[in-house]
Amino acid sequence: MAQEKLLIRGGTLITAADTVPADILIEGEKIKAIGSGLDARGAKVVDAKERVVMPGGVDPHVHLDLPMFGTVSSDDHYTGPKAAAFGGTTTVMDFVPQEPGHSLLSGLRAWQEKASRSPIDFGFHMNVTWLGEGILDELPRLREEGVPSFKVFTAYNGRMRLQDGEIFQVFQAAARFGLMPMLHAENGDVIDLLVAQALAEGKTSPEWHALTRPAWGEVEATTRGIALAAMAGSPLYVVHVTCEGALRAIREARERRLPVMGETCPQYLFFSIHELTRPDGAKWVCSPPVRSPEDNQALWQGLRQQWIQSVGTDHCPFFFDGTQPIVYEGRKVAIPGKELGQGDFTKIPNGLPGIEDRLPILWTYGVGQGRISANQFVALTSTNPARVFGLYPRKGTLQPGSDADIVIWNPSTRRRVLAREGHQRTDYNLYEEWELVGVPEKVFLRGRLIVDGKQWLGRRGGGVFLPGGGPQPL
Ligand code: URP
Ligand code: ZN
Ligand code: ZN
Repeated sequence: MAQEKLLIRGGTLITAADTVPADILIEGEKIKAIGSGLDARGAKVVDAKERVVMPGGVDPHVHLDLPMFGTVSSDDHYTGPKAAAFGGTTTVMDFVPQEPGHSLLSGLRAWQEKASRSPIDFGFHMNVTWLGEGILDELPRLREEGVPSFKVFTAYNGRMRLQDGEIFQVFQAAARFGLMPMLHAENGDVIDLLVAQALAEGKTSPEWHALTRPAWGEVEATTRGIALAAMAGSPLYVVHVTCEGALRAIREARERRLPVMGETCPQYLFFSIHELTRPDGAKWVCSPPVRSPEDNQALWQGLRQQWIQSVGTDHCPFFFDGTQPIVYEGRKVAIPGKELGQGDFTKIPNGLPGIEDRLPILWTYGVGQGRISANQFVALTSTNPARVFGLYPRKGTLQPGSDADIVIWNPSTRRRVLAREGHQRTDYNLYEEWELVGVPEKVFLRGRLIVDGKQWLGRRGGGVFLPGGGPQPL
């Protein structure tokens, strides 16, 4: 059968490196050619005049169907990626939990089964949260399985935290086997002490979630993680950086030419502890917590100056009131959520929705307000994550031979964010009522149109697993 041809004509292409008017010829799942006057005989034409055309977003940090505090994050491997697609993201990277006392590979098998329903392409990172016998030996297998990255935690004592010596050992293995370690940096011991003190004093409202997880703990743990990686000779990708001090530690490491990279998330650019003091403050409870307006500004500077390499979402949504159903694809759904922590901040499931909001919010309030350039936007949300996790140039760029994951963006559409009109399977949106200027209009996954305006054309299981190649520190 002849390969289907598509010509995206008349748009302005934006990549991490360039902004150029050009057409894109797609043949089957791949970009065949870019330029003007392309031989497009037999091609279906898509008009992109007055539109910008970008590579599909790569979200390097999501938690789908993640068990937590007796419930589960409310987007699964179908609903979350579908919402991502409506927001212009065509690849998600999901974290695979390790069950305590169990092997990494058994966790991976379970997640492969769940993710087989994803409507967009996906990769995995492994959580290494228990270093029992045989686990170190499994690390090289991860790479063979196409999972060249894993995350460790310096917090969540007694659950997911590894001790420093254990972290050092897995970093050594990362150096030896070409893996990319990722770090959740908070000080677990200090958190546990502060939480016990707060509860003893009857301080139970959501802002105490932030007050018991101080920024200094993140600064200390980031610095510790960088030092452990330097001693082990491994690279390091610090996830969800929230504050100026952690940013400074990463910047300094990079100035010393250490292969250290940082990721932040939109919630750390726009929100602060003030949101946690609202009556519905539980909506903003995530770990590490949202910090201060000064930290927000420092992180914007970090993005501009390229001290931070990527913006992921850490999408880990919960209902605000999981006793009240919402209608999802014509069916009522209610999943226990933030109400579990009413009267006790320690029981509020940690995590926020954002997989659909990441690109439109960053475009309007980042590019639109002159905080980052359009090319930086593409670098931070697509090209850099694809590079770091070994998916580039298949993903993260527009060039001949790349997968035809393409977003046609209408920069002049105005829209208000409304949870009830979005696709994240939860009952609220952090950006409710915020005005967007510029939204994705058509989204292609490997040459196939999966979002056309408000229409969903994607299908369950339409995504493929993306084995990560050798990670490329930036
Ligand atoms: O609050 C958050 N971020 N939940 C997801 C787990 C994590 O640590 O990233
Ligand atoms: Zn984390
Ligand atoms: Zn996370």
